[in-house]
Amino acid sequence: MKFYRPLPLDEALNLNLKDILVSKTDKNGKILYVNDSFCSVSGYTPNEVIGAPHNIIRHPDMPRAIFYLMWQTIQGGQNITIIVKNLAKTGHYYWVTTDFEIHKNSGGEIESFIAFRRPASKKAIQAIEVLYSTLLKIEKQHGMESSLVYLKGYLEERHLTYHEFMEGIVKPKSLMERLFSVMKKRFLHSDNNTGYSSEHREAV
Ligand SMILES: Cc1cc2nc3c(=O)[nH]c(=O)nc-3n(C[C@H](O)[C@H](O)[C@H](O)COP(=O)(O)O)c2cc1C
Repeated sequence: MKFYRPLPLDEALNLNLKDILVSKTDKNGKILYVNDSFCSVSGYTPNEVIGAPHNIIRHPDMPRAIFYLMWQTIQGGQNITIIVKNLAKTGHYYWVTTDFEIHKNSGGEIESFIAFRRPASKKAIQAIEVLYSTLLKIEKQHGMESSLVYLKGYLEERHLTYHEFMEGIVKPKSLMERLFSVMKKRFLHSDNNTGYSSEHREAV
């Protein structure tokens, strides 16, 4: 099945600070659920995206290495936060700080993945944009293996794990992040069709 791919425009979408864009996928990244904010920002209806691979909103400025790291982490059973530049149906881009979380069934096996996105701060975008464009350049010239080596060296030079590096950018103790965390919990407790069990809701 072919999916619509817009041409990227060099124009940003302004997101509302209250926007939490949620999507849920199966283990292969096929979209199972999107919330209203996801639809109004991305410009797609649920019908257009449910069943589609999540790269339907992939922006060409995003380095492959970052998604590789994300998939490795969640498939390994860990959550991860990433700053993502996404592509809306109109061709506009929008930056979001995204928590990728795993959802296990009662047998403890990974059943699906869920992404919670909020607008990325200007500081976060500034901090990550240079790194992403370097990774992208390396990927274009030498492939993803080389950009992964660069990313590893970048973090080692700063004596940081990826997680610590992100904490420095996203600042989990900031007011905005604490607010987001409350909104995320509220979302999980509401009747939202994400298919989350009450057991999982408690755990989040
Ligand atoms: C729960 C979940 C949410 C995702 N959300 C996004 C997203 O917002 N933007 C994006 O580009 N990729 C997202 N992905 C990753 C895509 O599945 C894909 O790996 C990525 O777009 C790279 O595409 P490519 O492999 O075709 O280069 C998500 C994956 C999962 C599991």
